[in-house]
Amino acid sequence: METYTNMEDSDLKKLKIVRKQECFLDKTDIISLQEILNECFPETLANRIFYKQLPTMRLMAFYEKRLIGQVSIDHRVISVDKTPHQIFGVVDLCVTEAFRRKGTGTLLLMTLENLARQCDINHVIAFADHPELYKKLGYKQEKANCRFLAIDDLSSHSVIERDESKILLIKSWEDVDFTDKTIDLLGHLF
Ligand SMILES: CC(C)(COP(=O)(O)OP(=O)(O)OC[C@H]1O[C@@H](n2cnc3c(N)ncnc32)[C@H](O)[C@@H]1OP(=O)(O)O)[C@@H](O)C(=O)NCCC(=O)NCCS
Repeated sequence: METYTNMEDSDLKKLKIVRKQECFLDKTDIISLQEILNECFPETLANRIFYKQLPTMRLMAFYEKRLIGQVSIDHRVISVDKTPHQIFGVVDLCVTEAFRRKGTGTLLLMTLENLARQCDINHVIAFADHPELYKKLGYKQEKANCRFLAIDDLSSHSVIERDESKILLIKSWEDVDFTDKTIDLLGHLF
């Protein structure tokens, strides 16, 4: 197996972002995803390529044919005051450790946002403990409640409503006021 050291700043140009529908992942993709997700989320993924539920699609970042980063996209409808809004949910954004702080995470998020615009989807939502990367890209921390289906250990058990202001980040191209509202995720918290 080839070994890779840190990528040079100039090598960002060599990154290839590939979009794949979840149902079209092949065996090689799945093995590469297991490796990178286990490295980046060792506590939570337990050798699976999804945590709560399969995503709609993924953006996969390849450097000289090696998968070095990924973001899963959950395309769904959320409900705010009974009004439906299509969103892209950002799921399991990660970059393998040796390649971090070179702009790959930013490139993955920007590619996701461009895709949202192309699809007339006006909101991108993330739940993140460390908001720095998102804030740099213009995401706003929202003071809102979220209502969602709680899934633990492959089992649905309740519907929860709680304040998620500490981790909820939204970037919108449409003027919707989420402040102090209840955002019904109509599914699990991604
Ligand atoms: C979060 C993560 C995807 C960032 O990927 P990345 O390729 O290193 O991100 P970028 O190089 O595009 O970083 C852009 C900016 O985000 C911020 N940032 C990135 N990682 C950061 C960290 N660990 N701490 C603080 N700020 C950070 C910085 O402002 C950075 O800009 P700078 O390098 O010029 O200071 C990567 O660190 C990772 O995979 N972490 C483990 C998994 C994880 O926690 N995923 C996030 C789930 S929400």
